[in-house]
Amino acid sequence: MTIRHGAGPGSRLCRAPETGGTGAPAPVIRLASEAETEAFAQRLAPVMAAGGMVLLDGDLGAGKTAFSRALIRALAGAPIEVPSPTFTLVQLYDLPDLPVVHADLYRIEDPDEIDELGLWEAAEDGLALIEWPDRAGGRLDPGALRLSIAIAPDGARLVTLHPSGDWTARLGHLTSGNPAAPGSPPRTCS
Ligand SMILES: Nc1ncnc2c1ncn2[C@@H]1O[C@H](COP(=O)(O)OP(=O)(O)O)[C@@H](O)[C@H]1O
Ligand SMILES: [Mg+2]
Repeated sequence: MTIRHGAGPGSRLCRAPETGGTGAPAPVIRLASEAETEAFAQRLAPVMAAGGMVLLDGDLGAGKTAFSRALIRALAGAPIEVPSPTFTLVQLYDLPDLPVVHADLYRIEDPDEIDELGLWEAAEDGLALIEWPDRAGGRLDPGALRLSIAIAPDGARLVTLHPSGDWTARLGHLTSGNPAAPGSPPRTCS
């Protein structure tokens, strides 16, 4: 897993948009394989909490479901079945420490439809992982963590972190390279 802060010399892959208002470049995490996606999810799992919302942007096949599956399994502590919610729209996981609601809003045509899914109720008591959040028409938690996943020309996934609310502090162990944090410290872009 490689973490880059903003543009690196001569590399388009190192360019990252600025975070809203802070002027700081958004951290971009390069995940070279699905195994690295799983390791990234395992490092994020300890900072997930009830009432938290993670919004997952990215084209079809970018890896929103793969990341969600890895995160849910990390939270469960077991390789449980995690189907894509493409057709059910919402999947609930009544995990002992943290209930999780995993939603895919791709097929939502009118944001009002979301009210019928029980998503808001489930998200109050647990963690919400939401694919295609823009289908909600701006109704989602403004204090959410937004992860934008893009596919690099070499097939790796580039995850741009857009934390808001208290997520910035909660993600400090991922972006600072603090060796005391869970997992191995990140390598920085050279
Ligand atoms: N870091 C990675 N590098 C390469 N391929 C990956 C990586 N992470 C996930 N994948 C693959 O990308 C695909 C993502 O599919 P999926 O998660 O269903 O996408 P989405 O939910 O965004 O439509 C899967 O085939 C998965 O194995
Ligand atoms: Mg998906």
